[in-house]
Amino acid sequence: MRLNTISGRFAALTIIFVVLAEICILLPSLASYRLDYLESRLERAQIASLALLATDESLASDLESELLQNAGVFNVVLRRNDIRQLVLSSPIPGPVSATYDLREEGVFQTMDDALRTLFDNRDEVIRVIGSPVNQAGQLIEITMNTAPLRQGMIDYGLRLLLLSAAFSVMTALLLNLVVQRLVLVPIRRVISHMVAYANAPEDPRHIIAPNARIAELNAAESALETMQKTVTSSLKQKERMAQLGQAVAKISHDLRNILTTTQIFADRLEDSADPKVRRAAPKLVNSISRAVTLCETTLAFGKAEEPPPTLSRFNLAQLAADVVEAETLAGEAVGKVDFVTDIPPSLTIRADRDQLYRVLTNLIRNARQAIEGTGEPGTVELAAGENDNEWWIRIGDTGPGLPEKAREHLFKPFSGSARKGGTGLGLTIAADLVRGHGGAVDLIRSDAEGSEFMIHIPRDVSIALQPQPAAAQ
Ligand SMILES: Nc1ncnc2c1ncn2[C@@H]1O[C@H](COP(=O)(O)OP(=O)(O)O)[C@@H](O)[C@H]1O
Ligand SMILES: [Mg+2]
Repeated sequence: MRLNTISGRFAALTIIFVVLAEICILLPSLASYRLDYLESRLERAQIASLALLATDESLASDLESELLQNAGVFNVVLRRNDIRQLVLSSPIPGPVSATYDLREEGVFQTMDDALRTLFDNRDEVIRVIGSPVNQAGQLIEITMNTAPLRQGMIDYGLRLLLLSAAFSVMTALLLNLVVQRLVLVPIRRVISHMVAYANAPEDPRHIIAPNARIAELNAAESALETMQKTVTSSLKQKERMAQLGQAVAKISHDLRNILTTTQIFADRLEDSADPKVRRAAPKLVNSISRAVTLCETTLAFGKAEEPPPTLSRFNLAQLAADVVEAETLAGEAVGKVDFVTDIPPSLTIRADRDQLYRVLTNLIRNARQAIEGTGEPGTVELAAGENDNEWWIRIGDTGPGLPEKAREHLFKPFSGSARKGGTGLGLTIAADLVRGHGGAVDLIRSDAEGSEFMIHIPRDVSIALQPQPAAAQ
């Protein structure tokens, strides 16, 4: 039994407590033993003296020494009718060293006397005074030696200690049994359930069924049961979601291919001889291209983890120009959005060029779409710079600011879109890609005058190379 186990602790504590309790009762027990001993001596002396008084004088001398020996005292004095009478006497081996009057001794006095008797190992002669039994006089006084009393006390003390040792061992064993049964067995059960459950958390057979009779343990089991049920059901749900995700990915993939083919045919409708068909054609093309975009972004998001960035050094102004060019082309139909870039021409940045292209495209496209949505002209501004720790890119626009829904679900997949035909994935993907670089995308301003997003990309490569969090939550 080791001391760091519950049973070990219990056994040790039991022994300590019993020993402490024993120490507390040992002294009073010894004091009471001594008192009993002295009183029995007085009683025997009284009987002996009465025996002698009733005997023939001629026999007295022999009988006297025998009676004294039997009583274990040297002499006996009785006081009757105010007359002090030496009834029995024999030679005393030494001077009387102390007198104890049992009629006057208080509790603490007896304990003090007991201690003194115990630790004084000289054999001394003491005088003991007490009241005679049966009111056979006013006082009885004996002289006796201390050695037999002391020996008796030592034997008694040892017996008491031995008994308490046996008692404490037995209590420890019993307590141990009880602890095993009441506490350890249920705890081991909980542990084994936890281990089994950890190995196969999706298997509901490993969920614990609370049955401990001790309230606290039962509460622990119930808490474990609740936790296991929650985890198991959310695991199942996750699994279903993953399967669903795979199905959605497959559908998106095939749908995109079908739509791309349809798009080619829809393009041809613009050359149709029928003016109605010609008029409807651009709307059809537009709808199909929105559907293709939806498929593509869903597919991109479906890759639960973006590949880690492949870092290279490149000119940021050049990249921004590419993005702006593509967006200008995409927004040509309305043509009311101005793009302004304020990026030092020599600014070189270390990042994944393709990923950063996607990030900027997403943010700039959102800005363009927001401005276009107002029907008013507006400006999208792109600025960038660097400091000792990072590169920063700011994308601002003069649009209407983020709608409340978008602000509430900022960077959350599928839930933030407030735009017709939107997926609510653009910002999520942008944020995930930048996080893959160890950086962050922040919305720093959004009001009626427009919005401003800030991208931070740290210079410290080690941050970028840390494992990338999953894009989906
Ligand atoms: N610069 C912006 N100005 C105003 N609203 C914006 C801006 N950027 C994003 N939003 C809002 O946030 C929503 C979520 O954007 P995003 O995650 O790119 O999804 P989507 O563009 O597919 O809707 C958009 O629908 C739009 O309402
Ligand atoms: Mg978008």
